[in-house]
Amino acid sequence: MKGLQDKVAIVTGAGGGIGRQICLRLAQAGAQIALFDIDAENARAVAEHVTELGVRCSVYPVDIVDHDVVGDAVRAARSQFGSIDILINNAGWDLAEEFVKTTPELWQKIIAINYVGPLNLHHHVLPVMLGQGAGKVINISSDAGRVGSSGESVYAGCKAAVIAFGKSVARELAKSGISINTVCPGPTDTNLFRDFAGEGEFGAKVRAGLERAIPMRRLGQPEDIAGVVAFLASEDANYITGQTISVSGGLTMHG
Ligand SMILES: NC(=O)c1ccc[n+]([C@@H]2O[C@H](COP(=O)([O-])OP(=O)(O)OC[C@H]3O[C@@H](n4cnc5c(N)ncnc54)[C@H](O)[C@@H]3O)[C@@H](O)[C@H]2O)c1
Repeated sequence: MKGLQDKVAIVTGAGGGIGRQICLRLAQAGAQIALFDIDAENARAVAEHVTELGVRCSVYPVDIVDHDVVGDAVRAARSQFGSIDILINNAGWDLAEEFVKTTPELWQKIIAINYVGPLNLHHHVLPVMLGQGAGKVINISSDAGRVGSSGESVYAGCKAAVIAFGKSVARELAKSGISINTVCPGPTDTNLFRDFAGEGEFGAKVRAGLERAIPMRRLGQPEDIAGVVAFLASEDANYITGQTISVSGGLTMHG
């Protein structure tokens, strides 16, 4: 992939299943990585592998829900690395529950992490990119935001919001050299998915049912997501903005 060497990427949720693979894929292409995660320990473990690949990286313990904390971390990353060329909004969270059994407190938490968090990142990083006259943003949404998902209604709403928000800002900034695209994973084998599916016999049934429904007959692996993210962050994607791409083994097929 062209043009990732020495670029500086912020990756949120860098210590998680998909975040880890995104960091490693970008680092393999020569990008420097600012790892943002509320779980600094997991992010540090990923940073060790990134360092072994011979690129610079740094961990920022960040709760993406907090606008001021995000601002401080973005300024620190910019001062440490000199620029911010790529933003990957990957951090996310959910708790599976039928909507009628949920509480407003749970909605607030889901909305804060999955929608307000990405807004905070955009709000602090886009001015930097505007100053540079270039930048690439990739938002990790979900197929839940395209087709819905039982037990994930509020999360699905946030993920749909991320798609529409990204398209809107992509329109505003296309002439300024900034592109914003969205990647929608389908069911992908990470802690988040395991929490959603549940444990024991029930979890195994959910997993088997999904594997039957997915045309490629397997769950996604975090590695399956990282390639398209790296492509969208690269110069090979210079004429692509406002797009939404599902990576779901064919479970969802959009025109
Ligand atoms: N795994 C799936 O099946 C699936 C499907 C569709 C979309 N996604 C999306 O992919 C992204 C990555 O999820 P994953 O499956 O790797 O999950 P994961 O739980 O392995 O990783 C999520 C990461 O986000 C971090 N995080 C959570 N809240 C945070 C906060 N407030 N501030 C900073 N960091 C925070 C966690 O510490 C964790 O490292 C998420 O946006 C998720 O919604 C996942």
